[in-house]
Amino acid sequence: MTDDNKNKKIILSGMRPTGKLHIGHYAGALENWVALQKDYQNYHLIADYHTLTTSLDTSKVYEDSIDMAIDWIASGIDPDKSPIFRQSKIKEHTELFLLFSMLITKARLEKNPTLKEQIRDMNLQGLTYGHLGYPVLQAADILLYKGDIVPVGEDQVPHVEITRQIAGVFNDRFPGADGKAIFPIPEPKITKFARLPGLDGKTKMSKSLDNTILISDEEDQIKTKIKKAFTDPGKLRKGDKGNPDICLVYTYHNKFNKDELPEIREGCTSGTLGCFDCKMNIASKISSFFSGVREKRMELEKKPERILEILTEGEIKAKDIASRTMSEVHNAMNLG
Ligand code: TRP
Repeated sequence: MTDDNKNKKIILSGMRPTGKLHIGHYAGALENWVALQKDYQNYHLIADYHTLTTSLDTSKVYEDSIDMAIDWIASGIDPDKSPIFRQSKIKEHTELFLLFSMLITKARLEKNPTLKEQIRDMNLQGLTYGHLGYPVLQAADILLYKGDIVPVGEDQVPHVEITRQIAGVFNDRFPGADGKAIFPIPEPKITKFARLPGLDGKTKMSKSLDNTILISDEEDQIKTKIKKAFTDPGKLRKGDKGNPDICLVYTYHNKFNKDELPEIREGCTSGTLGCFDCKMNIASKISSFFSGVREKRMELEKKPERILEILTEGEIKAKDIASRTMSEVHNAMNLG
């Protein structure tokens, strides 16, 4: 870390490795992470242990982690400034997770709305101890690096809330040697486009719903996908007057084609613009928006060993900070 970075606030951001990222990840998180590198010291966590809470199929975790790191770097994360690392490679995550698990009740974790949603949506038969503890592991992720700020979507706010609670309990119970609190009380930073809707009009773009446009998709793939996208059901053909406010393609224009927005609205509401043309237009705008990222991605894909090297470098830096935090924790807890 350079001296310049010492005074910067710390951001810890993380994602579960789900493989190639979609444009919802970009709009909801990645774009923001890239912008934040300028003013903060950023750490980027690949939360591979967290994937185990909902699936024990580990066959693609490694590959998915590499693919995700490629998308991060291609989108502008500079790993020299902002280390990228895998959770499973830093043992301190599991250690702090264990200690934190003594500081929060089971009843409090059962109230977590994200968990309730998952139990309902995934039809879970029996919740594992590890899944219940998901936010406790996340608290360890954030606090090991003394994260001040956590950029998240709306759905992750309850997890940051639990992190804040755990940090507060720890600080009260175990002050540092000089009487100062060891952990910051982190703030969530909510992204504006936290949820880019999926092609089916569902609230969220998600791999499991198969309604995504990938950052890596080529123009013709985007066109094919967007042809099926949900639009105003009252507008059947060119000439019909549409309502852009209920059209998801319009949401995409709002994000990726801001300049033409007034024209698009006018064309849609008056009927002069047909849905097909409107869709082909946004497909090519999305494609050109990501063309630089795609190019960089293709370069990186050719060198998977370089990606592994980048992760290993990030893991050395992360490990150094994590182990220092753990020594402070051990001292404060009188564990020697
Ligand atoms: N729970 C986050 C998600 O599902 C991923 C995550 C794990 C995370 N650890 C984190 C996010 C720490 C921010 C900080 O998206």
